[in-house]
Amino acid sequence: MTALAKLETPLAPVRTADVDWEVLGTHGLRRKRLGHDVSTGHVTFLLDIPRGWHGGGVAHYHEGFEEVLMLSGSVTLDGQHHWHGGDYFYRPAHVVHGLAESSQEGARALVRCDRMLELLLVPEPERSTEYPLPGQTDPRGHVFSVKVDDIPAECDPAFPREWKIKSLSRDPQTGARTFMTIVPPGWTGSAPAMAGDWEAFVLDGDVAGAAHRYGDGDYTVGSAADGLLAASASERGATVMVWMFDGAR
Ligand SMILES: [Fe+2]
Repeated sequence: MTALAKLETPLAPVRTADVDWEVLGTHGLRRKRLGHDVSTGHVTFLLDIPRGWHGGGVAHYHEGFEEVLMLSGSVTLDGQHHWHGGDYFYRPAHVVHGLAESSQEGARALVRCDRMLELLLVPEPERSTEYPLPGQTDPRGHVFSVKVDDIPAECDPAFPREWKIKSLSRDPQTGARTFMTIVPPGWTGSAPAMAGDWEAFVLDGDVAGAAHRYGDGDYTVGSAADGLLAASASERGATVMVWMFDGAR
């Protein structure tokens, strides 16, 4: 099964279990591509880091951003800070990182980035942990590491009042945002239109929409008019990772 070309077939479920792994680079990383957008270069994928992994270990930066939700395991990119399952980070373009990459236990993560990430090497990094170069101007800022558990789950006027939203990052200029949605068990209703096109990944639970049912590990995309997952009911409740774009895209 191949990745979904974003918005060519809105709301079609991509079942992660049905997607083949592809090898990424030369250090044992694998990924399952869930969605990609040929017009912008955005790609969203499930990343597998094997137990005992060591990366290139050379400080570098990219011309694009990396946005990551850690699902399980742990990984370090500088030998000091470890990201664990349940952590989120948003690393803008032009942030130097990767001084000492390794993972003892392996890890799984959901990753979204805006292009193929070429390694632009920094042979003599100024710091031992990741840091922005002067050209870093992403309005989302650099979210180094947050624990999703620590983020308050709040009502959001853009969504049904029974839903709770955990905001992970936001672009104040465009309104684009990344957040987690918590739908309670037994919910029925109607997902309202969104402020922009979106992607969603069901972390756990179930959501029924007008034409499709989504469960653990299902990914899809939609337009603003579709409403999130075109949701109308959830039996067990659901936790859904959502990436929403500005209305212009
Ligand atoms: Fe990198």
